[in-house]
Amino acid sequence: MSLSKKSRPYFNHSVEFKKNFTKEERGEALSKAGLNVFFFPSEMITGCDLLSDSGTTTMTNEQWAAMHLGDESYGSNRGYFLLLEQIKETFGGEFLSFIFHQGRPAEDALFTLIGRLGKELVIPSNGHFDTTEANIEANNIRALNLFSPELKNENSHSCFKGDMDVKKLNDLLEKSKDKIPLIYLTITNNTGGGQPVSLKNIKEVSDIAHERNIPFFLDACRFAENAWFIKKYEEGQEDKEIKEIVKEIFSCADGFTISFKKDGLVNMGGGVFIKQDGLFVKKYPQMPDALMNYQITKEGHPTYGGLSGRDIMALSFGLRTVLKEEYLDYRINQVQEFGGAMKEGGLPIVTPVGGHAVYLDINKFFEGSKMKPGDFGGVALTALLLSEYGHRACELGYFAFGSYNKETGEEIFPEVNYVRFAVPRLRYEKQDLDSVAGAVVELYKNRDKIPGVNVVYGKDLPLRHFKAKFEFKFLL
Ligand code: F0G
Repeated sequence: MSLSKKSRPYFNHSVEFKKNFTKEERGEALSKAGLNVFFFPSEMITGCDLLSDSGTTTMTNEQWAAMHLGDESYGSNRGYFLLLEQIKETFGGEFLSFIFHQGRPAEDALFTLIGRLGKELVIPSNGHFDTTEANIEANNIRALNLFSPELKNENSHSCFKGDMDVKKLNDLLEKSKDKIPLIYLTITNNTGGGQPVSLKNIKEVSDIAHERNIPFFLDACRFAENAWFIKKYEEGQEDKEIKEIVKEIFSCADGFTISFKKDGLVNMGGGVFIKQDGLFVKKYPQMPDALMNYQITKEGHPTYGGLSGRDIMALSFGLRTVLKEEYLDYRINQVQEFGGAMKEGGLPIVTPVGGHAVYLDINKFFEGSKMKPGDFGGVALTALLLSEYGHRACELGYFAFGSYNKETGEEIFPEVNYVRFAVPRLRYEKQDLDSVAGAVVELYKNRDKIPGVNVVYGKDLPLRHFKAKFEFKFLL
């Protein structure tokens, strides 16, 4: 056994003990939740909660102290000015800031206003996140995913499988240039296996957009992790500081939406940020004021925008910590080692492993077994992992991204079929994640015995994975 010579770059400041629950108790609670892991009481999770890396960060003692300095004034609280300074420091450039309480209300504001610009609009992306897609489509805009061909190529060793397919983007622009209000890149590409996007692709997409007078936006939730990958794996970038790479990324964009619940290292927060002298403002000069009106009517005064003063303080400090190289090194190595343990156990995971999660390829997991696509093996697997072993993961595949056609009675399956193990920041240790890998390996060995599920409620609903109820096809 080789022992690591490197200790963590932090130590525990405060801990919470778990409660004890038996397999039977978990099984009963999960049945009550209709096998939908979102409805399973988190207090009963005896293993690791890898449902999401969003808002699940363990904050630093600096952040907790900053919260105490939170100023709850209605207008222009102390933290607001710190945050504005920090946004400038982190992202560079002059961005107009519109704070929202998380990522999706920021998307809602942006796409509601963009939806009013015309008909039959299309927003292409390297991979829209589910709520982003829902917010775009709620405004009668088509959300189009132009995944990189490398993503599905098992033999590819590309480190940037999150890139946008530029060829497909050019084809789309040939046909429908006037229907595209902006081009969007998600860094890292959560829907596309959590894979990073190269600086080369970011620059290329930005140039293509600008050549055609189309604004370029980022969905920047995991910007720091993406920058880490650029430094480590992209040719010619290794000597740059991560801070510099972040600024270079954002110098390409006319604006960005962000959920600070990821790389903001906070439990709540989000926003839309628009470059003052960027193409978005030039092309749609009415937008900043319209966004502010939207913010005031839906969230609150622009100087707090749906967040309490203490949340804003914690965020200002979180944005500083996230760019510490020793933090990012440890964070992403931890996720990669977790993926390595799964791979060693023979599990078919998406490789290379991305920055925030390990994605298990469900089609390969059940290859050779009797599991059919409409049995939703990913849902069954997450249910069994939770009841049998006490670990919570998230199906992001045929059920979450698929849909049911009421007229034909057929399921429409998406391109990707994953179960995601998202690793919360600064929360777990190696022993915790090893125990998850061990449990999934055991389930893999017994995959022939895993039953499919019937959807007993919600198969025809939008965003169905958050609401649906299931039952196993036969009793174990
Ligand atoms: N964009 C991306 C790429 C995301 O991953 C998320 C959230 C959002 C936007 C929306 O942000 O949750 O603050 O409203 N992702 C979480 C996840 C929920 O589990 O991946 P939000």
